[in-house]
Amino acid sequence: MAEAAGEGEGRLRRDMSALDLTILGVGVIVGTGIFVLTGTVARNLAGPAAALSFVIAGAVCGCAALCYAEFASTVPVAGSAYSFSYSTLGELPAWIIGWALTLELTLATAVVSVGWAGYLQAMLAEAHLHLPDAIAGGDGSVLNLPAALLVLALCGVLMVGGKLSKGVTNVLVAIKLGIVLLVIVAGLFYVSRSNYHPFIPPAQHTDSSRGLRAPLLEVLTGTAPSTFGVAGILSAAAMVFFAYIGFDLVATTAEETRNPQRDMPIGIIGSLAIVTVLYVAVTLVVTGMQHYSRLSVAAPLADAFTAKGAHGFATVISVGAVIGLIAVSLICYRSQSRVLMAMARDGLLPAALARLDPRFGTPRFGLAVLAVVMGGLAAFVKFTVLAELVNIGTLFAFAAVSAAVLVLRRTAPDLPRAFRTPMVPAIPLVSLAACVYLMLNLQVVTWIGLGIWTAAGLVIYLAYGRRHSHLAR
Ligand code: ALA
Repeated sequence: MAEAAGEGEGRLRRDMSALDLTILGVGVIVGTGIFVLTGTVARNLAGPAAALSFVIAGAVCGCAALCYAEFASTVPVAGSAYSFSYSTLGELPAWIIGWALTLELTLATAVVSVGWAGYLQAMLAEAHLHLPDAIAGGDGSVLNLPAALLVLALCGVLMVGGKLSKGVTNVLVAIKLGIVLLVIVAGLFYVSRSNYHPFIPPAQHTDSSRGLRAPLLEVLTGTAPSTFGVAGILSAAAMVFFAYIGFDLVATTAEETRNPQRDMPIGIIGSLAIVTVLYVAVTLVVTGMQHYSRLSVAAPLADAFTAKGAHGFATVISVGAVIGLIAVSLICYRSQSRVLMAMARDGLLPAALARLDPRFGTPRFGLAVLAVVMGGLAAFVKFTVLAELVNIGTLFAFAAVSAAVLVLRRTAPDLPRAFRTPMVPAIPLVSLAACVYLMLNLQVVTWIGLGIWTAAGLVIYLAYGRRHSHLAR
């Protein structure tokens, strides 16, 4: 996740190696995407070929990340895309990018919390405990209480500090990866080849993806609504893009990297490659363990083992996911509070959001506002709806960053860049086109969501930000 400015004022020490960057990347990227979305996309969109969707999404992320890294390395402070664009492109583009990042990080916290709640329930179920349906967040529930409570608990932790030490982070990363590897290795013993037939399920016409639920591309090209087949693989790629979010954090550490020009691409491409291999392997194993049509959508990795009667594995996986996903949610929440703080410091949002608590030095009011918004979303909005919105916000921000790299090469060719994207203009152009293409594979209703969000952002900017901005004054 993009960490924001306000930290690391002055120069940071250049002590990160390519290996450190790779570990950092793998650590932040692996989360709810692989633990939860795998089941949803295999079951509803792509079958076992969801593995290909992960490859496509990973490749798009690779291009976007190389652009992000150049953009991030033009400004000598640690910061999010918002801060970089403020200093290089000016206020309005920065506001638009920051606002899209806000969509990404706010909703990502909510999504990860909902995914966490799914594994919490899988864990409780192994102990024969069940939450009342009304508060469990499933179909027919009134709300997802555990997810909302997690957000509130994280808010409390962040208010009193909540910076994870390197040691704790490493343990959490090890747990997450251990679980992923356990799924792959133990799961292999339960794979039945017959589950891979058909590997790419034939396209099916469906009514469930009509109208607002249809991918925008289908509506624009007038194709009949369908799931599975090649179109399904692409829709699934747009969905599982979520599983890769977080690589932008690697891109924001150029300043701390010993030899950015060499280490940055290795770190970015290396972590994306490792994560892609893990994701593809998990998808192949899980869809081999259970026919895709029977995968669970709440906790597919654990439930695949439960379905095989392997309750011990299911318990270990659920417990590991519950612990590991808390960390992902915390990182998203923290990053979002810092983006909000950076925007408030520049005067684009009310100063109260950036005000630090005198005792703990944390933005207490901003964190509380976020808790209400994120907790409400986690409690009442469906997982896939939230995930699509996160994706469209992130893809939008990355498309903007890719374009910004091209613009800056023209308008500020001499700007010092710790890292330069290779093969310009090819890579930024491919990245821009690929991000837009994946966006087109998201549902019409998600586009409406982005439209409303962006319009609201512009209204806030015109009514408040433009007048209060420090730059303007
Ligand atoms: N990539 C992160 C996840 O999958 C956001 O949870």
